[in-house]
Amino acid sequence: MEEVKQKIEQLRDEINRWNYQYYVLAKPAISDFAFDMKLKELEKLEAEYPEYDDPNSPTHRVGSDINKNFTQVKHRSPMLSLSNTYTEGEVLDFYTRTKKVLKSDFELVCELKYDGVSISLLYEQGELVQAITRGDGVVGDDITANIRTIKSIPLKLMGSGYPDVFEIRGEVLMPWPVFNQINEDRAEEGEEPFANPRNAAAGALKNQNPQVVAQRKLDAYFYYLIGRDLPYSTHYENLQAARSWGFKISDAVKKCETQEKVFEYIQYWDKERKNLPVTTDGVVLKVNSLRQQTGLGWTSKSPRWAIAYKFQAESVETRLLSVDFQVGRTGTVTPVANLEPVLLSGTIVKRATLHNASIMKAFDLHIGDWCYVEKGGEIIPKITGVNKASRTVLGERVTFITNCPACGTPLERREGEVAYFCPNHAHCDPQIIGAIVHFAQRKAMNLMAGPETIEFFYKKGLIKNTADLYELKMEDISCLEGWGEKSAANFIESVEKSKQVPFNRVLYALGIRDVGETGAKRLTGYFQNIERLSTASYDRLMSVDDIGERIAENVREYFADKENIELVARLKSYGLQFTLSITALAERTRILRGKTFVISGTFSQHSRDEYKELIEKNGGKNVSSVSSNTNYVLAGENMGPAKLEKARKLCIKIISEKEFLAMININR
Ligand code: IVH
Repeated sequence: MEEVKQKIEQLRDEINRWNYQYYVLAKPAISDFAFDMKLKELEKLEAEYPEYDDPNSPTHRVGSDINKNFTQVKHRSPMLSLSNTYTEGEVLDFYTRTKKVLKSDFELVCELKYDGVSISLLYEQGELVQAITRGDGVVGDDITANIRTIKSIPLKLMGSGYPDVFEIRGEVLMPWPVFNQINEDRAEEGEEPFANPRNAAAGALKNQNPQVVAQRKLDAYFYYLIGRDLPYSTHYENLQAARSWGFKISDAVKKCETQEKVFEYIQYWDKERKNLPVTTDGVVLKVNSLRQQTGLGWTSKSPRWAIAYKFQAESVETRLLSVDFQVGRTGTVTPVANLEPVLLSGTIVKRATLHNASIMKAFDLHIGDWCYVEKGGEIIPKITGVNKASRTVLGERVTFITNCPACGTPLERREGEVAYFCPNHAHCDPQIIGAIVHFAQRKAMNLMAGPETIEFFYKKGLIKNTADLYELKMEDISCLEGWGEKSAANFIESVEKSKQVPFNRVLYALGIRDVGETGAKRLTGYFQNIERLSTASYDRLMSVDDIGERIAENVREYFADKENIELVARLKSYGLQFTLSITALAERTRILRGKTFVISGTFSQHSRDEYKELIEKNGGKNVSSVSSNTNYVLAGENMGPAKLEKARKLCIKIISEKEFLAMININR
């Protein structure tokens, strides 16, 4: 038996090495045929001896099991972004600022900014244990099974010197040739092509079936290590070490000691990147020394020790065929140009935004005009101008509409604003659908229903507003086209789960104009419940930090509308959170400093997790098992008899939830 185990391990090592030579170094060491034979040999042995199976075996790269939903996992450290710059002047500012703060010399590492899907991988004892998407930066999806199918990602590390536990972050990308092939196939099947390789990669990673992901031939580049025992005290050297462990680290990474070298790097790669097999949209500059990085620190959104410089967007010319007017969720009407299809930064563009009535008027557009199209940071391309010199015949002049294209209501414009909007918020289809889509999105109520599903439900007459989502039953949807028992159950479960979504996200989900995620946090933190918020005066609203006139007016306007009040009341009756949770309300104290708690049993006033959080917020510590070091056992109903016995034996104080709340001065 030991022999079989050894043979299996030897085969895995060999196959991992060949994979690395093929996918990371692009230097195949054996023929495809010989490789397949070895892989088959390993598969056979693993099938015969399932006791030696290992999720990190290279045979699992083809994807073996179907996983249903992704589990959401909290990042060990948040995945923040980089602050963007667009001009050499801004890069120079970063350089000068860094120099001033550090008061000493420093090296910068220049890297390419890969435009894919960011992921964070966790390795323990040299093995891949978890892969998480960026998600909202704090919580992401566990996509380990899908990530295992990417052949250039090491499942087991090579070499030595890697920390016992570390995270490595990078970007999953779809190479251009794979992207083009997939789009050709999609076109043949009559499916909508992917707009760009990033969307295609993101779509692939979201697939619930790893076998499908494996066919997508994704690749991954890595650029950031996090861990306590990294081998070097500099970023560049750690990246080189990571390369020796089997990760794909771009050859373009370069140390630059002077500003001139940084600019040379930017200029070189602005041209050269077009020859790369994957998309890049800029250069990232990072201070090399980890000690200096710590000295510079972070803002709430990004590190102060790094910036991104974004390459200038490419611009092309194409003809204007027609103009559509789209109505957004808050009623804003946006003009959209339909264009003669044109290739721009590798993708075909057919539509581009014309921004708003004022900009459109300034272009003095006529059908058939040659327009300049650019892709900014956003996915939606934009018209940046008209080449009037190329006008041969003057087509019909494009004018802004006066009535809503969806419901016919005359459009209005607010004082001091450029956008026209349809005021018929409650009865204009695209606005209603948009509001429900906003409500359901991940950052809000996180329902398992994207824009197509919501539109489908709406058009079928199943929902007319957000509250109707909570009335939907299994039997209403499982019989619908494209739905089954399972997908219906998943959707219903997500609706049920959304009743635990905290108040700040619920407020954001309501979609009050200009109330974003941060605004919602400020308002809920200040008013604590919907009753106080909905009756707050304009002046009171204005007194909240970061809340200005516009938000204050919009909040007043929202709650002055009887239909909105009724909607909120209905949502409340279904159990959505319209009050700050006890843990959000509790202040940090040191009341429980030095005290160790074991929580056991079930509770009636608050959840177990809430009690855990309350202990930590008040300076105490949670442990899982009773020992002589435990100070208190917080006991609920049905506490385990063994635990109770042990606590009694050790004379540990057993307290009820009421006693606990009194201890931390919460009397409710
Ligand atoms: S470093 C805290 N390096 O760009 C810094 N990011 O806009 C961690 N990205 O979320 C990121 N190439 O998804 C870093 N060479 C590179 C990158 C890179 C692409 C992405 C990454 C990040 C985003 C920030």
